[in-house]
Amino acid sequence: MTKQKLPRGLWFDIDGIDGAGKTTLVSLLHRFFCGLDDSVKMEFKKHPIVHTKEPTYITEAGQNIRRILQTDSNPVENGELLLNLYFEDRKIHQDKLITPALEQRCLVINDRGELSSFAYQWEQLKQAEIDQEKAFDMIFERSQKVKRPSFYIVIDTPADIAIERMRREGRGTQKFEKDLAFLEKVRKNYLELQVKLPKEKYNIKVISGNQQKEQVFQQALAYFKGEYYKR
Ligand SMILES: Nc1ncnc2c1ncn2[C@@H]1O[C@H](COP(=O)(O)OP(=O)(O)O)[C@@H](O)[C@H]1O
Ligand SMILES: [Mg+2]
Repeated sequence: MTKQKLPRGLWFDIDGIDGAGKTTLVSLLHRFFCGLDDSVKMEFKKHPIVHTKEPTYITEAGQNIRRILQTDSNPVENGELLLNLYFEDRKIHQDKLITPALEQRCLVINDRGELSSFAYQWEQLKQAEIDQEKAFDMIFERSQKVKRPSFYIVIDTPADIAIERMRREGRGTQKFEKDLAFLEKVRKNYLELQVKLPKEKYNIKVISGNQQKEQVFQQALAYFKGEYYKR
């Protein structure tokens, strides 16, 4: 008798600036995978879905990050401290939640991950007048000590549109959410990462966030399927 091979888990990150549309996309993907819709392939239904985010709520580092994001007014301050806290939180997130979920064959959808450290903390460090290559290396070095998802989807939304979306929701009061010039630089960093990070380790797909939610979702789903069946 042949034993049926169970499908392996798969983990991917959704990333992008504040207000880009990450949580919206994660929710649409989550709903799709959990749905009873016949168009959801049986393969996907074999996977429990884990929807998670960073900073987490399960670590002290995560709590410290949240406190800093709420109380700091200058986006440039505390770059190195945040860099260390995010990687501390990320390591525990992986050990306690993501890795065990993958062992249970889950599809893990993570709302923000290490590309946020590359985009945001890189900008913070650059603006704190650390040489840009040195700053990049500081992040890269930390990134080699954690695990990586199968791929990253970056939602690329112009900062003015992202800020307007947050304003309509009554958001936009946190450290990085209100500074248009800073957020636009962070957006450019995300795009630069595609060029700077080695492709064999960092599989990054950029999708425009300046289109209908449904279009963003369909493009993300198409990329997911390509990666799912490639394994
Ligand atoms: N493609 C889109 N077009 C228009 N509005 C959007 C789009 N994606 C998200 N939004 C809206 O923008 C706001 C911010 O989206 P959200 O998903 O919370 O962003 P993020 O998680 O990246 O901060 C929400 O009110 C959401 O409904
Ligand atoms: Mg969000």
